[in-house]
Amino acid sequence: MKKKIAIIGGGQMAEKVHVSYYRTRNEVEIVAVVGPNFERTKDFAKRNEIARYYTDVEEMFQAEKPDIVSVCTPNKYHHEHVMKALEHGCHVLCEKPPSISSQEARQMQEVAEGNNLILAYNFHHRFAEDVKIMQQKVAEGLLGEVYVVKAKALRRSGVPGWGNFTNKDAQGGGPLIDLGIHMLDAALHVLGYPKVEKVTAKMFQKIGTKKSHGTFGEWDPNKYEVEDSLFGFIELEGGCLLQIETSFALNIKETSIMNVEFHGDEAGATLFPAHIHSDRKGELVTILNRETADPDRLQKGMAAFVDKCLGKEVMVADGREGYLIMQLVEALYQSAEKGESITI
Ligand SMILES: NC(=O)c1ccc[n+]([C@@H]2O[C@H](COP(=O)([O-])OP(=O)(O)OC[C@H]3O[C@@H](n4cnc5c(N)ncnc54)[C@H](O)[C@@H]3O)[C@@H](O)[C@H]2O)c1
Repeated sequence: MKKKIAIIGGGQMAEKVHVSYYRTRNEVEIVAVVGPNFERTKDFAKRNEIARYYTDVEEMFQAEKPDIVSVCTPNKYHHEHVMKALEHGCHVLCEKPPSISSQEARQMQEVAEGNNLILAYNFHHRFAEDVKIMQQKVAEGLLGEVYVVKAKALRRSGVPGWGNFTNKDAQGGGPLIDLGIHMLDAALHVLGYPKVEKVTAKMFQKIGTKKSHGTFGEWDPNKYEVEDSLFGFIELEGGCLLQIETSFALNIKETSIMNVEFHGDEAGATLFPAHIHSDRKGELVTILNRETADPDRLQKGMAAFVDKCLGKEVMVADGREGYLIMQLVEALYQSAEKGESITI
């Protein structure tokens, strides 16, 4: 029998990624979608040929009894909807970020683990072939001791002109919780999620409250509530320094950078596309050079979740990692707010 899937939050991520991927798998079927607005949820269901639609989450669970749930609501609701799905015995794929606090993420992890349910977060960048290669090369020691890692998730003029992205209450923050978290996950995944010891950060709100137009549309500067850039130093167990730079708006040369650099005492690397470089007897050498970064990471992440729900032993970004990354994001925000380092 096909596994029944329900979607909570019929927005752009649900449509472009979750629904379109599930459609490619014969082992599953999408039975329902839930959203707060009746007409829009009905339109979503019709457009995507989903049989039933609801405005009440509990009513959907009672009527449909799904096996799997995709949570694609704004960040603020992730905890509520994931908990509800877990209470109803469903495996869950939740969009990133896991939640807006580490306490919420911890509870989600505990309930999933306690009930033997799969809880995965859509950190899709870690599913790129480039990440798999880099993880192997780092583990084999090709880079030597990796002592500095730089994660960058930067947009030059990319304050989103749609959705809730500038609303602190709905999102839990700005570029760090929206973009930076992706590159932090990719970096930590390659390193094997080492323990974070100390965090120091500074954030700025210099452009979002001043301008109203960017390459991603228009916003209201009077309602711009989140940081427009954040910079942090993360000290990892074993002595490695992980640096994060993230922005919706920052006057840089490039329009956008989403990448991680690894610096070891034997070689250095960039992640997207995977590239490893060093020097031998005074000659600069390229050890690995992928032409382009893997474009299929979103589909691969979705595939891993479905495969795991079907009983295969595959990697997903799980509840534990969701908690660890939320603990880190929270510490970065706390450090920036208090103007002091945070020890974890
Ligand atoms: N993995 C990625 O790279 C990626 C990219 C974009 C967005 N996202 C994440 O996906 C999530 C949704 O983002 P989006 O861009 O699709 O936003 P969106 O605004 O297009 O969709 C959100 C949907 O949730 C619905 N919703 C709001 N409150 C609800 C409630 N209480 N109950 C049920 N539905 C509710 C809205 O009506 C809307 O249809 C966010 O958490 C975002 O961070 C992830």
